[in-house]
Amino acid sequence: MRALILVGGYGTRLRPLTLSRPKPLVEFANKPILLHQIEALVQTNVTEVILAVSYRAQQMEEELVHEAKKLGVRLIFSHEPEPLGTAGPLALAREYLCASDDPFFVLNSDIICEFPFKQLLEFHENHGKEGTIVVTKVEEPSKYGVVVYEEDGKIQSFVEKPQEFISNKINAGMYILNPSVLNRIELKPTSIEKEVFPNMAQDGELYALELPGFWMDVGQPKDFLTGMSMYLTSLRQKHPEQLHSGPGIVGNVLIDPTAIIGKDCRIGPNVTIGPGATLADGCCIKRSTILKAAVIKEHAWLDGQVLILYIYVNSCIVGWRSVVGRWVRMEGTTVLGEDVIVKDELYINGGQVLPHKSISTSVPEPQIIM
Ligand code: GDD
Ligand code: MG
Repeated sequence: MRALILVGGYGTRLRPLTLSRPKPLVEFANKPILLHQIEALVQTNVTEVILAVSYRAQQMEEELVHEAKKLGVRLIFSHEPEPLGTAGPLALAREYLCASDDPFFVLNSDIICEFPFKQLLEFHENHGKEGTIVVTKVEEPSKYGVVVYEEDGKIQSFVEKPQEFISNKINAGMYILNPSVLNRIELKPTSIEKEVFPNMAQDGELYALELPGFWMDVGQPKDFLTGMSMYLTSLRQKHPEQLHSGPGIVGNVLIDPTAIIGKDCRIGPNVTIGPGATLADGCCIKRSTILKAAVIKEHAWLDGQVLILYIYVNSCIVGWRSVVGRWVRMEGTTVLGEDVIVKDELYINGGQVLPHKSISTSVPEPQIIM
């Protein structure tokens, strides 16, 4: 089988991280988001993955080629001369998608869940129509594509980012489509959500499959951190041996074996620490992601803020090779881009710091630091 992953788009909502790496390559729980998806596809017998790329194609190719070899999957890079939206890339890759009569998977590249590809294929073959989309329930449906469907899954209407409340069931960004859907798409910038799905729904050709378990679009820092907590909870159930335990470790914590952890650190809950990262003695880190080769110096404290009723909001993402000084305190969805330096003893609350900056005064209120 084949799959197409939409890896274009500028990832502006995940800045400053996406100033250094395209969104699908940002490591989520120590692995590029895209690799979580490709691995799950390979487990469902997908042998060919088409990556619909509109920018930074070369960086993606360089980083993914040897991963693909390891997984035994063929990667095809379909380059867009201009961004073609979420449907145009399918028309561009027509020769691959229509190479057989088999249905193919389509994925947004910024979603994390327990990918239900096997059930999706089965359900799709059972109802026999042109397309099936995976749906999930969310609290804030207006940020997504909203789906209204009958008990058997037949979709009545699909409305992208509705202004008014219609339903809390939304498009989870995973589809299986028959090659005939290509007859509905022209080779020009087109939105599958606005221009293709509503028509398919009207024709009775689009079905919905409800996703069990967690789901998150990790394309913004706050959601990235929430998704990370959910992912670690699911990892605890499925592969607890991958999580760290020992003195000073609290709850679900994932630490790359090449990371160096000092004495008397307190780590967790909901922390991931990337390859080659260093935590000096006495650090306290909660609800945060520390990316590759970052350095957290002695007694730094990274934590979420307490909201009412002891609900915490997520804390920090420390970018690749960034250095957080001694006794620094960071909280409130702070994101350090690549190679940022935070000098000793500062307080950072909700700062979004662009790559290669050096911070030498505290940031008491959320702001972008350029
Ligand atoms: N190749 C290519 N070219 N890919 C693109 C382009 C483009 O011009 N524009 C966006 N993409 C990719 C993005 O990289 C992402 O993987 C996917 O298309 C969706 O774009 P987003 O920008 O992340 O859309 P969204 O999050 O606002 O909404 C979409 O996802 C929601 C679920 O997370 C929609 O599909 C919604 O209906 C859905 O609910
Ligand atoms: Mg998105």
